Amino acid sequence: MQNIESLKLELKKINSEAAKIRDLPVEERADFGKKINAKRQEILAKISEAEKALLDAAVEPLDITAWSGVNEALPDFYPTDMGSLHPLMSELDRVVDIYQMMGFDVVEARQLDDEFHMFDSLNFVKEHPARDGYDTFRTEEGFIPPAHTSTMQHRVLKAYRKKLEDGKAIAVVVPGRVFRNEDVDATHEHTFYQCEGVYVSETCSLGNMLGILREFFEKYYEQKLEIRTQPGYFPFTEPSLEFLIEKPKSLGGKKGDYLEMLGCGMIHPNVLKMAGINPEKYHGFAWGGGIDRLVMLRYGLDDVRHFESGNLKFLREF
Ligand code: DAH
Repeated sequence: MQNIESLKLELKKINSEAAKIRDLPVEERADFGKKINAKRQEILAKISEAEKALLDAAVEPLDITAWSGVNEALPDFYPTDMGSLHPLMSELDRVVDIYQMMGFDVVEARQLDDEFHMFDSLNFVKEHPARDGYDTFRTEEGFIPPAHTSTMQHRVLKAYRKKLEDGKAIAVVVPGRVFRNEDVDATHEHTFYQCEGVYVSETCSLGNMLGILREFFEKYYEQKLEIRTQPGYFPFTEPSLEFLIEKPKSLGGKKGDYLEMLGCGMIHPNVLKMAGINPEKYHGFAWGGGIDRLVMLRYGLDDVRHFESGNLKFLREF
């Protein structure tokens, strides 16, 4: 059988020969065309035959004797390096599981968002310096890799507001990957994870929120915890709080050693209004905090940069 390359070369020659048809007297053209075409078909058939033969040869027949039960020279099995979930992902699963057990729905955040969801829908006034507090990246088209999971609040409120009309509460958590234009060091990363919580009903209060957060942290760290709040500022909550837990003794904490775990507060009436929810009738609270920090405390890690490092030695410890 001829090899494919030489057949293709032949086809090329025929094609260029076919072009000569233009120089022939009209009455000879039909005959010439027919001959050339027949030749071309013949070569094309040969090419496809050669290609098929090549494919057939590439498929090796199954050798059923390549099994240790028949051929003792072979090992019983081939060890594989299976890989595993990234520690942030398995911990995020734990976080979401705890909230789900408490009755929350889960909505995933997006990794590319816009000015409206990042700022306007969250009651950031245009030109307000609070916008600068979020060191956002921007694409050339003006999209924003979100700097927090709060970008999903407006969408969640809109998508779930029907529940309120049915006399139920909105209870949703939103895990997601977020991005900030940070100077990276042991406690700051440009890429990290957050989990947002949104709760709206006719009767809810700040006290309910503190109860939910305490429950969450005690479940996550598997022990009773001391909690504390201090005033904070976020344009999308009023009042705004920072939520702290006392660093547990089992994790190397001393009495009075409080760590800030997340930002939270009662959802600002403007945020509810923009999502079509009547703030005279309904109240809500929301919170958002870093997953990386949560996990670092649980495992006593000292450097957030491990997570994005791709260092297998670190990853295999989990
Ligand atoms: N998005 C805020 C941040 O990343 C945290 C936050 C504060 C989320 C208050 C909330 C909230 O939902 O109500 O800094």
